Amino acid sequence: MALKKELIDKIISVTSRAAFSCHKFLGKNDKINADKAATDTMRNEINKLEINGEVVIGEGELDEAPMLYIGEKLGSGGNLNIDIAVDPVEGTNFVAKNLPGALSVIAVAEKGNLFNAPETYMDKLAVSKKIPHEATDLDFSLEKNIKNLADSLNKDISDITVCLLDRPRHAHIIEELKKMKVKMKLISDGDVSGALMVTDDKYNVDIFLGIGGGPEGVLAASAIDAYGCKFQGRFLFNNDKDISRAKKMGIKDLKKKYDLKEIIKGDSIFCATGITTGDLVKGVYVDDNKFITETLLTHKYSNMCKIVIREDTIKT
Ligand code: FBP
Repeated sequence: MALKKELIDKIISVTSRAAFSCHKFLGKNDKINADKAATDTMRNEINKLEINGEVVIGEGELDEAPMLYIGEKLGSGGNLNIDIAVDPVEGTNFVAKNLPGALSVIAVAEKGNLFNAPETYMDKLAVSKKIPHEATDLDFSLEKNIKNLADSLNKDISDITVCLLDRPRHAHIIEELKKMKVKMKLISDGDVSGALMVTDDKYNVDIFLGIGGGPEGVLAASAIDAYGCKFQGRFLFNNDKDISRAKKMGIKDLKKKYDLKEIIKGDSIFCATGITTGDLVKGVYVDDNKFITETLLTHKYSNMCKIVIREDTIKT
């Protein structure tokens, strides 16, 4: 079943207002309160919607966080049963330090169609729809992925650009890419945006890879689904607590490699509103008694991928 188009505007309004509410914490070096402001607004706004929603990707679990927790029921009721993935602030450091690229993010799909992911790390790979499906794989060596990419794009290896988080855990990848003379786009945070870089040539990124948050992996897969891109992810478990949580969530094979189609199914809506200006969208702009936001919107069943500008009144 397709999600009704009326829902799109309402979801844009949720991330847009969440982005605005955390905007006042820009550069205050206070990521906790920035996140809390966006989370509270997101919860209030989603609760106004006539839906039976459940958070499947959130910030912690009931026993741990006062945030939008996994399993939390949202919405005012009705016949529409949906799964919700949220990241009220993707890039809390960006907001705290007043840096580019912070987003407020949501993905929604019909009940049962959005993966219920544990809060652990995930090894990820994303490429554009131009690349043949079999050319890249999480199980291939880095060298094989890069060579296949270069062949598929008819480019020199030295003209390939890889986007990945700049983290010590990626030191061996960075070193190998350097040896191969591959270009890198090393991001300090925000790997949902990183994965979205493969959706359009204007970002000059040929592949996104590396280890980041699992929840962000599910959001990234939801985002790039409407673009027809490829995404693969494999959860990584560092301790027994993570393993037992994953098992409780129904994950039997802890080493399983997930394809996009296993993470997000059917129709979906994805919205990412800019809090600070970045590669994808502009940040919140405040003018007298109104604020203006830019949202990257995708709606799978209408093949819609666009930027929506929204103006709203500041309520006092
Ligand atoms: P937060 O906004 O929750 O701080 O996440 C930012 C982020 O960079 C994600 O985009 C990414 O998936 C994750 O953190 C990586 O985690 P780590 O900083 O532990 O490497």
